[in-house]
Amino acid sequence: MADDVESKLTEMNIEAKEEEESEDFVDPWTVASSSVKGVDYDKLIVKFGCNKLDQDLLDRMEKIIGKPVHHFLRRGIFFAHRELKMVLDMYESGKPFYLYTGRGPSSEAMHLGHLIPFIMTKWLQDAFDVPLVIQMTDDEKFLWKDLTSDEARRLADENMKDIIAMGFDPEKTFIFSDFEHMGQSEAFYRTVVNTQKLVTFNQVKGIFGFTESDSIGKIAFPAVQATPAFSCAFPEIFNNRKDVPCLIPCAIDQDPYFRMTRDVAPRMGALKPSTMYSVFFPALQGSQSKMSASDPNSSIFLTDTNAQIKNKINKYAFSGGGATVEEHKANGGDCDIDVSFQYLRFFLEDDERLEQIRKDYSSGELLTGYLKKELIGILQKIVSEQQKRRAEVTDETIKLFTTPRKLKYDY
Ligand code: TRP
Repeated sequence: MADDVESKLTEMNIEAKEEEESEDFVDPWTVASSSVKGVDYDKLIVKFGCNKLDQDLLDRMEKIIGKPVHHFLRRGIFFAHRELKMVLDMYESGKPFYLYTGRGPSSEAMHLGHLIPFIMTKWLQDAFDVPLVIQMTDDEKFLWKDLTSDEARRLADENMKDIIAMGFDPEKTFIFSDFEHMGQSEAFYRTVVNTQKLVTFNQVKGIFGFTESDSIGKIAFPAVQATPAFSCAFPEIFNNRKDVPCLIPCAIDQDPYFRMTRDVAPRMGALKPSTMYSVFFPALQGSQSKMSASDPNSSIFLTDTNAQIKNKINKYAFSGGGATVEEHKANGGDCDIDVSFQYLRFFLEDDERLEQIRKDYSSGELLTGYLKKELIGILQKIVSEQQKRRAEVTDETIKLFTTPRKLKYDY
């Protein structure tokens, strides 16, 4: 576990004891829960003031696209949103949205948790056939981490290869590094500064908890992450239109950025972006923290070998099973805290099979070892296929995605 998460947990445990109730801590930099079941997402919805992604909205989506929604939606992995209905309404009335998501390139190798928003985004792009912009915030990681700007820029390119390898279409997708793009697009930088002009230090202090001793780079950064939500930042793609609606799929810890973005939007003469939020991908050690690239044993990386995947799952995946076989057979396993089961919810697509496993593990019929074996097979396949596709991504391919240009959509 990363030190900052650990100290946050200790701090919270002390507070929880004092208050006799457990509390979660979630912001864009730290996610920690003192409960074995992980973050209480219903509470988080109330705290952040967003909405639950309910069955009505999913039905509505299915009606529009004429096919079942992705299992991330069916299973509540994407569970909250802001004004999703608005972009669906506009789409139906012939005014399609564009998608925006991003990644802070803080490590050379991405892990399974990093795939989640991109899998969702890819599915949305295929289902709705709309443009997508992907922001690589190398500037953010330079400001927050102990990295040189050269190193952050290099990591952005490395991570882009993994993102491209997930199968995005260059005719529909623009990917950019902040460091690179800021120097080549006046429209982008102007939108950043427009945003900065509309947000005070007091506001970001309230939203992000910045203090007077944080660098002014950090304090100004939220405007950079807000900017791609405004279509006027991409004149090449949107022909200088200010009013193209935007939908942002991401993990819920990014909500503070988009609360701020939605607040400034009307004053920019722009539409408020809509958002869709996922839960966190649990660490191998359990749902109290999310997978972290800085702790190799907490994560399955996209660079792991089959043997490493097998070892890590067998050795570290927290079990919700009984302490002995007898105990397990008598009392059954607890799927809510079993990490292998939780990972199967993300990556085993077959609903019936997942439900059967849930029943048989809960009743004690299936042992943890069975779940682990099933999971290992699925993850080895996903990771090795990803590695094969990534090996085919060249500098030329990166150039294709990162060149500012019109996409196949007319505006
Ligand atoms: N701040 C995000 C991170 O650290 C990166 C990011 C930039 C992002 N823009 C985004 C994530 C839009 C989701 C949606 O990973």
